[in-house]
Amino acid sequence: MTILALAGLSPAFGQGAALQVASYPRRRIGRVSRLTVDQPVSFQYPWKDFNSTNMLVKLGVPAGGGVSPEQDVVAFSTLCTHMGGPLTGQYRGQWKVLGPCPFHLTTFDLTKHGMVVAGQATESLPQIVLEAKGDEIWATGVMGLIYGYHSNLARRA
Ligand code: FES
Repeated sequence: MTILALAGLSPAFGQGAALQVASYPRRRIGRVSRLTVDQPVSFQYPWKDFNSTNMLVKLGVPAGGGVSPEQDVVAFSTLCTHMGGPLTGQYRGQWKVLGPCPFHLTTFDLTKHGMVVAGQATESLPQIVLEAKGDEIWATGVMGLIYGYHSNLARRA
């Protein structure tokens, strides 16, 4: 796991905030031209199993960690950081949030690196680190701990 200083990444973190980012093999996960604002697309990363299900979404507004010319394409784990509640299908485009979680109602702000805005969770939603190469969107790492793992470096058997 790599610790990166991401000064100025977003006002949500302030200057000089230290974030833990786990790097994984790069994988192309989509194309900017195929995304529609507020219509999430599911993908698996870094592993191909239930616990690594994520969503890629074009928010239509700039976001922390966003790629594309508008900096509005982001990706997040869809497992709630509280107790692993399933967040797939819980995106609310009018507020750019994921939630409320069906278990205990936590809601995460996707414009601010998955910060908790309501509910029981205390940790932000893990954000998939993205890179854009022209129209292509690549996943390159995970910022934050995916629910159910003691380390994002651990691999399922
Ligand atoms: S599991 Fe999501 S709020 Fe508890």
